[in-house]
Amino acid sequence: MSSAPVSEAVQAFAQLTRNRKSKVKSSSREWQYLSAMLQDHQALFEQSQLSQNISRQLKVTLKNSSTSVTTILSLGLGSLQVTREQTRRLKQLTILLSLRDTLRQVSGKQIGIYAQDPTFTRTDETFLNSLGISILRTPSGSDLGEAAAIICPSTLIYSPFLTLEAYEQLLFNAATPVQFFVGDDFNALLKKWPKHSAERAQVERVMKSGLSRYRRRAVDGEGFWKEQDGTFPMAVYGWVDGGERRREKAKI
Ligand SMILES: C[S@@+](CC[C@H](N)C(=O)[O-])C[C@H]1O[C@@H](n2cnc3c(N)ncnc32)[C@H](O)[C@@H]1O
Repeated sequence: MSSAPVSEAVQAFAQLTRNRKSKVKSSSREWQYLSAMLQDHQALFEQSQLSQNISRQLKVTLKNSSTSVTTILSLGLGSLQVTREQTRRLKQLTILLSLRDTLRQVSGKQIGIYAQDPTFTRTDETFLNSLGISILRTPSGSDLGEAAAIICPSTLIYSPFLTLEAYEQLLFNAATPVQFFVGDDFNALLKKWPKHSAERAQVERVMKSGLSRYRRRAVDGEGFWKEQDGTFPMAVYGWVDGGERRREKAKI
């Protein structure tokens, strides 16, 4: 029997092992890099005015509601492996983790985090898992996917820069109305799009039909975002229930 096929098989196996080892090495390097960057952003965020403002606005929103939050659902964080958008997305992840800390502080209870984005890679998913974040899946952007089952009155949605299409799904088609979300400031979004554009009409539709029962609290503040991050204004939204409506009417 010839030894050639055996040696080819051995060589192929050795090559496969080398490829696997180098894949494992490069994904563990990527992990270490993401962790180091995240820690830097967290240190910066803790010192920032923005951090204090988000925490304050979230606490006021919760105080005005009869519902408490037990779960955060992050929609549209995007892949952390896209070089051009990486800093903005890691900073958005920093804010997500800080929301968990604030909610934990307010309730004294553990807060679960779920994240869904159809563009997450395997590395994104294992990295997010390592931070205690569970991954949900959707077949497409126009579908709420597994996230639909997570939405209940005690879910806070975190949606930085989520597509308008997905916002429509969230605000018009979710089986249970969303009580709280921290995401794009729609008043600023309205100004972003030119009059008569399709996007502006979409923003107006969401504001009129989807957001009319929410109280918006804009959040800004120095010390975290940089011009080159290309971020967009954010706000905390809380569903205005009967109690708050009556209190607001009484103030007028
Ligand atoms: C404009 S990108 C923003 C990504 C990132 N937050 C950023 O600032 O770069 C919108 C994101 O929403 C995600 N998306 C769209 N539909 C979604 C859905 N149904 N569930 C979760 N994510 C969705 C897209 O995959 C995309 O990553």
